[in-house]
Amino acid sequence: MGNLGGTDNIDVIAALKKAEKMRIEFVANVSHELRTPLTSIKGYAETLLQDMEEGRGADPDFLKIILKNSNRLLALINDLLDLSAIESGADELHPATLDLHEITQHALHALQLNAENKHSTILTEVHTPNVYADPKRVEQVITNLVDNAIKYCPTGSTVMVKWTLERDDFGEAVFLRVIDNGPGIAEKYLDRLFERFYRLDKGRSRESGGTGLGLSIVKHVMQRHDGSVTAESTLGAGTTFICRFPLRTAP
Ligand SMILES: Nc1ncnc2c1ncn2[C@@H]1O[C@H](COP(=O)(O)OP(=O)(O)O)[C@@H](O)[C@H]1O
Ligand SMILES: [Mg+2]
Repeated sequence: MGNLGGTDNIDVIAALKKAEKMRIEFVANVSHELRTPLTSIKGYAETLLQDMEEGRGADPDFLKIILKNSNRLLALINDLLDLSAIESGADELHPATLDLHEITQHALHALQLNAENKHSTILTEVHTPNVYADPKRVEQVITNLVDNAIKYCPTGSTVMVKWTLERDDFGEAVFLRVIDNGPGIAEKYLDRLFERFYRLDKGRSRESGGTGLGLSIVKHVMQRHDGSVTAESTLGAGTTFICRFPLRTAP
């Protein structure tokens, strides 16, 4: 029999209330994030229309702003859909034994241009051959973490992508570390970074095309793999993101 009217019920009600509050906050946040680029698109489209009606030509700069904001909206909606698919479990995992050299190089290849533009050096160290996980999702984790390291570190920084097999208090696991020598993050923000839309510098994140969802996606991908992600940082010295994949082998 359940514990009717006992402390368990009070806990359940408190948890439901908290979930409801989070849902309301999430809807408000999403609406706000969508409104900013949409307001800009609407404003520039109206100006363009007026200019053309009054016989002035269309300013290509205005069209560029409209395009940039449309791309932002699309990135935001794609990330939101992706996050909800991962979180709800609607998107099934297709785990396989992954070659860590191969998957790392594949992810880094897509970031090569970003790295070159920032004169960043990306190093890799692979000390264990494989991980049993979903390839698409592992690539997404590497991409989101390395993309951040490139974006939020100054020109000429170094990013290290390191895979190891280690034993911790919970047993043997494969660890992915993305280590940068950038500005670092104050201790009090380290946990909050994984919340949806949390950014240290909103303007900078938006300017560089960020949606504020990259690290929440990493967190949920790791949870789906029964793993975890944490961050360690020293102000002025750099940040390390640590992903833990419990050791699994193909059935
Ligand atoms: N390597 C890093 N160094 C410093 N700050 C970082 C780093 N990675 C992430 N951040 C901070 O965490 C925030 C959230 O990251 P993320 O969820 O990927 O969103 P986005 O990159 O779209 O802003 C970033 O806006 C940035 O402030
Ligand atoms: Mg990001």
